[in-house]
Amino acid sequence: MKIERVCILGGTGFVGRHLVTAMANSGRQVRVLTRRRERHRENLVHPTVAIINTRVRDMETLARCFQDVDCVVFLPGILNQSKQVQFRDVHVEFPREVSEACIKAGVKRILHMSALNADAANGASEYLRTKGEGEDIMHLAAGTGIQVTSFRPSVIFGHDDSFFNRFADLLRISPVMPLACPNARFAPVYVGDVTGAFVNALENQVSFGKRLELCGPDVYTLKQLVEYTARMLGARRLVLPLTQGLSEAMAKVMQYAPGAPLTPDNVKSMQLDSVCRENGFAVLGMTPQSVQCIMPAALQNRTSRGQYGRYRKSANRD
Ligand SMILES: NC(=O)c1ccc[n+]([C@@H]2O[C@H](COP(=O)([O-])OP(=O)(O)OC[C@H]3O[C@@H](n4cnc5c(N)ncnc54)[C@H](OP(=O)(O)O)[C@@H]3O)[C@@H](O)[C@H]2O)c1
Repeated sequence: MKIERVCILGGTGFVGRHLVTAMANSGRQVRVLTRRRERHRENLVHPTVAIINTRVRDMETLARCFQDVDCVVFLPGILNQSKQVQFRDVHVEFPREVSEACIKAGVKRILHMSALNADAANGASEYLRTKGEGEDIMHLAAGTGIQVTSFRPSVIFGHDDSFFNRFADLLRISPVMPLACPNARFAPVYVGDVTGAFVNALENQVSFGKRLELCGPDVYTLKQLVEYTARMLGARRLVLPLTQGLSEAMAKVMQYAPGAPLTPDNVKSMQLDSVCRENGFAVLGMTPQSVQCIMPAALQNRTSRGQYGRYRKSANRD
């Protein structure tokens, strides 16, 4: 199977921005469909990337956009639902529309972004149940001859992630940090490896029909990751682990804070270890990078000294 033209939904998000660059660098023509082109135009500049503002929730529009495309990549997802935007709508109905549009347009390949522990029937949270349902819907398209691969990453990190960076922001403003679900376990996976796996899988028959779990090389508790972030920032901080009962109580309050930093559904998701049973990187012949390889430099930029260094550099340039 030869894949030359790729259409990406969710290409403007954290993973999406990295994936668009990786796909374009691999020599493919890339089309990014977005609801808000103006917000993202400057982030995705590449001669072989077209950013198209369109009605991504209209099946006929999607089918037209997929007409001459070899592969459709589906990335959209939300961590928290609201009255306006529900998990079911983004994780289940949206993939259903995309899958139907792919069938209509004769697309031969689908790559779908799911999440580790996604499970339609037994998922620990609404996030994981709906992610699992969307994954199942995408794989049903295989019955029409489309080759489908889904990816199930643990938490994804990188210099512009919202995991380490959110904790870094909190640690900078508070000497004491109460931490919900301190013993939740993760195998953080580097965004460059995740996007590498997508590019690797495009024409790789080994990945056809697979649901590939993606994990970094090391497993940490949430408390270890937060303490590591504090060390990298050079900040002495007291991390206070909360019990399960207090974690749930905190989530009930924090869900109403701006940006909903923690919700009861997040707490349910963290009841399961976000750790791979079989690492998809081995299936693809790849070796993922560790947190220690990437994050010290990324977090260094967030320390006062790092910021001072950046100001000096830009002053020297001027
Ligand atoms: N980040 C992680 O640690 C992690 C871990 C496991 C799995 N995942 C999964 O990976 C995917 C990408 O994550 P991310 O961190 O890159 O997310 P992100 O930065 O929030 O980006 C999500 C993208 O989805 C699109 N989107 C969001 N809500 C939408 C809606 N209601 N309708 C249409 N499009 C919508 C947005 O596209 P436009 O605004 O341009 O239309 C946006 O570009 C998600 O499916 C997520 O569940 C992420």
